[in-house]
Amino acid sequence: MNMYEAIFKRKSVRHYLNEKVEWDVIADILEFADSLPKFVDDVAVEFKLVSNIETKQGFRGPFSVKAPYYICISSEKGEDYLLNAGFMMQQLSLYITSKGLGTCFVGLANPGRGLKSTMKYDYVIALAFGKPAVPLYRNNMDAKRLPEEDIVVYKEDVNSNIRQLITAARLSPSGLNNQPWRFVVYKNRIHVFTRKNVLLYKMMDTSNMIDIGVMLANVLIAAEELWVDVSISKLESLKNKPFQNNQYVLTITIG
Ligand SMILES: Cc1cc2nc3c(=O)[nH]c(=O)nc-3n(C[C@H](O)[C@H](O)[C@H](O)COP(=O)(O)O)c2cc1C
Repeated sequence: MNMYEAIFKRKSVRHYLNEKVEWDVIADILEFADSLPKFVDDVAVEFKLVSNIETKQGFRGPFSVKAPYYICISSEKGEDYLLNAGFMMQQLSLYITSKGLGTCFVGLANPGRGLKSTMKYDYVIALAFGKPAVPLYRNNMDAKRLPEEDIVVYKEDVNSNIRQLITAARLSPSGLNNQPWRFVVYKNRIHVFTRKNVLLYKMMDTSNMIDIGVMLANVLIAAEELWVDVSISKLESLKNKPFQNNQYVLTITIG
């Protein structure tokens, strides 16, 4: 299984065997993490592996996902650093899934003060992983997602490649399964918006931008598999336009 196939088969795994993963597999995952493409090149990040196998080092408490391993990302704070963190962590999640291990993002709990203080930059989010105690894959028809018509507006008919990129985007995981992404597709462009949160839910803004990064990873991995050239830009004309329920994020141009 490759990372593209994992997009369609993965699910969040919340039950793990308390077993070691072979060291060469862990070393390979860490090497992959350090070689990952970024969304923003000039924001430094650091990955940190936490093992709870022998001693409980972190991620305790009711909101945590109990797993043998966690990989944490800490990041410099700069433009789009949350989007970048989501983008990198989803690539990592798909890579780990393709190796036959389970993963689950952990946004509701954190590693704890002690561990955080050992990180080079600001802690953003973690990925729990390990050998699954439940089935690792599922049919994508069983993924609970909003119907396509609720999240995409097609201004005109589009080709099958663009539809496949949208399918990959729609299947992305998100915090609390919020699926904050909205798309307007016109000609060869996918304009990406995020749902605006009401004042009460302002804290969700952080999560939304991580989610958008997660979704972008799915789109770019799908584009690579389909041999489709994509570029990403932010259009001034849309940036400054007020929308009632949505906030413009960026535009993906195909070809
Ligand atoms: C940024 C982010 C944070 C998440 N945080 C948690 C979490 O703290 N605990 C948890 O059990 N699942 C968490 N999840 C997993 C989502 O709940 C899950 O992706 C969503 O419900 C869709 O289910 P699926 O991944 O099985 O398709 C998170 C996912 C993302 C992308």
